[in-house]
Amino acid sequence: MRAFMLIPLAVCIYEIASLILPLKLPLWPRLLAGLLLLSGLAKSLLYKPTPEGFEIYELPYGVALWFAVVFNFVVVSFFLLLAKDAIWILWKIFTRESFPDYYAALFVFSLSLCATLYGTYEALKLPPVARHEVAIKGLGKDFDGMKIAMLVDIHTDELTNHNAVKKIVDRTNALNPDLILMPGDFVDGTVKARSHDLEPIRDLKAKHGVFGVTGNHEYYFDFNGWMKELEEFGVKLLNNENVVISSGDSRLTLAGLPDRTGGMMGKTAHNIDEALKDIPDDVPVILMDHQPGAARENAKHNIALQVSGHTHGGQIPIMYSLVKKINNGFVRGWYDIEEMKLYVSPGTSQWNGFACRLFDPSEITLFTLRCD
Ligand SMILES: [Fe+2]
Repeated sequence: MRAFMLIPLAVCIYEIASLILPLKLPLWPRLLAGLLLLSGLAKSLLYKPTPEGFEIYELPYGVALWFAVVFNFVVVSFFLLLAKDAIWILWKIFTRESFPDYYAALFVFSLSLCATLYGTYEALKLPPVARHEVAIKGLGKDFDGMKIAMLVDIHTDELTNHNAVKKIVDRTNALNPDLILMPGDFVDGTVKARSHDLEPIRDLKAKHGVFGVTGNHEYYFDFNGWMKELEEFGVKLLNNENVVISSGDSRLTLAGLPDRTGGMMGKTAHNIDEALKDIPDDVPVILMDHQPGAARENAKHNIALQVSGHTHGGQIPIMYSLVKKINNGFVRGWYDIEEMKLYVSPGTSQWNGFACRLFDPSEITLFTLRCD
């Protein structure tokens, strides 16, 4: 057994003891429910280490969905069971009554099932468009009203497959954006496995082009292959680089940082000075940085707007505070940091590590720039 499976295994055993056994059912349905819970762990066995990162054994859509639902149930019910058992302890301390184990387990089971099914639906549905007007200091009048679409954390996989990506692309193109930004986490899987699924991004259309930066997940699966493939699909990756976009007499600088994971894995490291090298004076800068955690440092470099993703908005309420802490206080939405505006997208799709969203919808982000 792989060491990283020990924690989910312990969680499953806890859930069988606290959730399945108290249900007043014959032995065989309880055994079956326990085995179904344990089946969710099998997904961990599908990751195979390779010299370039990981490879994942390919699954049909239905099997991938099954694993997602079971794992989501394990996570959601775990938090609810902790609450139930905390109440059980207090009950035992402060009352002499017997605890209604059966009804408590039934309530947690039913609530977990509903939350799991809704959360999986919410994670997999076509993302709505989130529209934002953003005032940029020093923006030239020719860019007033410019539309920038942002797609981030697509995490293409068996569930976010070719059809799902095509629908996202069609919805994005229907917005008629002038510029499209893709700040990372395009895929989960090798080029061989996922290229067909991500290929619809080749059809993204914007007058000023499609630009991206790497996310941490680009380093986990065939990094060199994906860098070539993304360029082939028409995404200009900004790797500590910037470009100046012009419209009439107005100019705008777009800069991009590779994800900080690159430096940890022997690839190009995140370097803000390099990314902003030779930028023209008095031209506002929009920066793509996949993770929002370095935003306070980035804000010291006269940047008008930073766009990020990575956090998935916390995904479920109980994880929000943890995700906030890990990302230096940034989870989703707008933040003002000195003179810089930061927007953290909750992501455009789902992540198959935990394909569940509760009260945290994904989105296609559409910014409309305004002169400030
Ligand atoms: Fe990420």
